[in-house]
Amino acid sequence: MRWLPLLLLGCAGDDTLSFEADIAPIVQQQCSGCHAGAEAEGGLDLSASPYDVLQNQESNQSDLALIEPGDALYSYLWHKVNGTQALAEGSGTSMPLGWWLAPEEIDRIGDWIDEGAAY
Ligand code: HEC
Repeated sequence: MRWLPLLLLGCAGDDTLSFEADIAPIVQQQCSGCHAGAEAEGGLDLSASPYDVLQNQESNQSDLALIEPGDALYSYLWHKVNGTQALAEGSGTSMPLGWWLAPEEIDRIGDWIDEGAAY
């Protein structure tokens, strides 16, 4: 497996993660059921224009931004899906409520934010 690091390096530059292609499907399938409309759970409506909401709406639970482009560790959304919301002095449970995203999906959200949270 000596070639594996080279393979990973080769893939890294291919393309940047984007909300539209890589994150929106997760939000639609795993978050919108509860986070939709006027009665959205946690006051977070991700049904209409989730990217704008995540970029601009303040968290009700933490002083961190929901998304801090370039830094997942300063992004409350990432802490919620990672189950580390208490480290961000937040509250409530991990998201989605009642189950976990796949580790690959949690990593993908973190990488997308670290890469700048592009649309
Ligand atoms: C089964 C319902 C349910 C699902 C599915 C769900 N949530 Fe939530 N969400 C809640 C509830 C209830 C709260 C408020 C209580 C809490 O935080 O535990 C909340 C709160 C939040 C907050 C805090 C909002 C703030 O202002 O800080 C974030 C961020 C969040 N959810 C993100 C997500 C994401 C991302 C997903 C999908 C990966 C998701 N949720 C899926 C029910 C849900």
